[in-house]
This record gives sequence, C-alpha cells and structure tokens, in this order.
Amino acid sequence: MTEIPWTWLAIRASGITAWGLLTAVVLWGILLRTRLLGRLASPMRLLDLHRWLGATALAFLLIHMILLLVDPAVKFTVAQLLIPGLAPWQPLAVSLGIIAFWLLIPVSIMGRLRPRLGKVGNTWFKQSHLIAYAAWPFATAHYVLAGTDALSEWSIALIIAGSALLVFGLLARGFVPAPAPARPVRS
Ligand code: HEM
Repeated sequence: MTEIPWTWLAIRASGITAWGLLTAVVLWGILLRTRLLGRLASPMRLLDLHRWLGATALAFLLIHMILLLVDPAVKFTVAQLLIPGLAPWQPLAVSLGIIAFWLLIPVSIMGRLRPRLGKVGNTWFKQSHLIAYAAWPFATAHYVLAGTDALSEWSIALIIAGSALLVFGLLARGFVPAPAPARPVRS
C-alpha cells in the first residue's frame, strides 16, 4: 500500500477545519446582529464566541499554510504562499485561498488597534469587518477547486450545510430586527 504523507492529511484536515470555523464566525457575526436566539444567548456571549472562533479559524489557516512549506509532495516557498498566482500547483484555486487569507488580515489587526484609535478605530474596524466577510466566498471557491476530497459526498454535504446556514442567517438578518440597546463594545 502506498503511504500517504502525514503533511498531506494535515493540510486537508486543517483546511477543512479552517473553512468550518470561518463559516461559524460569519454565522455568529450574523446572529450577533439579530434577536434570533432571543434569551438563549446574550450579545456578550455571542461576541466572545465570535471572537474566539475568528482567532481559532486564523490559527488553523496559519497551520494549513505553514504545512505547505514542509510538504514533500509540492514544495511551496513563502512568496508562493503569500502572493496570488505564484503557486507551483493549481495556481487559480490556490490564489483564491490566498485572497481569502489577505481579506482576513485587516480585521485581525484592527481588532487589536481599535481600542487605541478612538472614533477612527471604530470606523476602520467596521470597514475591515465587511472586507473579512468577503473572505468566505473566496475560501469556499478555493475549497471546491483545490480540495482533493471536495467533491466527495460528505464534503458536498458539509459545504451545502454550511452555505444553507449562512443563507438562513442572512435571511433572518433581513427579517429579524437587531437588538435595540447599543451593542456591547469591549476592548
Ligand atoms: C480562508 C482561507 C482558506 C481556507 C478556508 C482553506 C481551506 C481549504 C480546504 C477546505 C481545502 C480542501 C481540503 C481537501 O478536501 O482536500 C484546501 C486545500 C488546499 N489549500 Fe487551502 N484554505 C485557505 C487558504 C489557503 C492558502 C492561503 C493557501 C496557500 C497558498 C492554501 C493552499 C491549499 C492547497 C495547496 C490545498 C490542496 C491540498 C490537497 O488537497 O492536496 N489554502 N484549503
């Protein structure tokens, strides 16, 4: 039996975990702006979870990328990891992942800087948030095009379930009013 390199399995596992967490971050962000869960979850708890999911998604994404540097099958350089179009394997599919990665960076930086920047920090944080939401479609296109297992039954079921939850959340956001009191802002 041919041996499957552990790095290849780990790249796939970390990629799928990062995608699942990214989907959950977007969903929690949407839930935060609606009264959908009512008293089941306070805005503060939802915000904490949203932040935790965001940080964990980024951690798995970094693992996904760093493993590509040590994978013996297709050797990536740091430049190929960070610059769209340079990848030695499936450049279009990989570029979509790299774009998703860069779209997540401003919100991660602004989350840290926001408390020190006052009013302008709030504006930049909101703008960087909108940019971060755009990462999801890029990450999903990357998953579908780059994934070895992307078109297997379980993977299609996962992608459909994640997408359906987001569509449901977005519809709810349109129909369920946002909480009346000001949103909690904690540093
Ligand atoms: C938010 C960003 C990203 C997410 C959510 C993500 C997620 C995924 C997922 C789910 C897979 C499919 C695993 C499988 O079923 O085989 C995958 C594959 C892959 N990703 Fe990413 N990825 C992201 C960014 C990146 C970046 C920045 C790179 C680096 C250049 C990258 C390189 C790759 C490669 C080379 C594969 C193919 C692995 C294989 O199946 O052999 N990804 N990614």
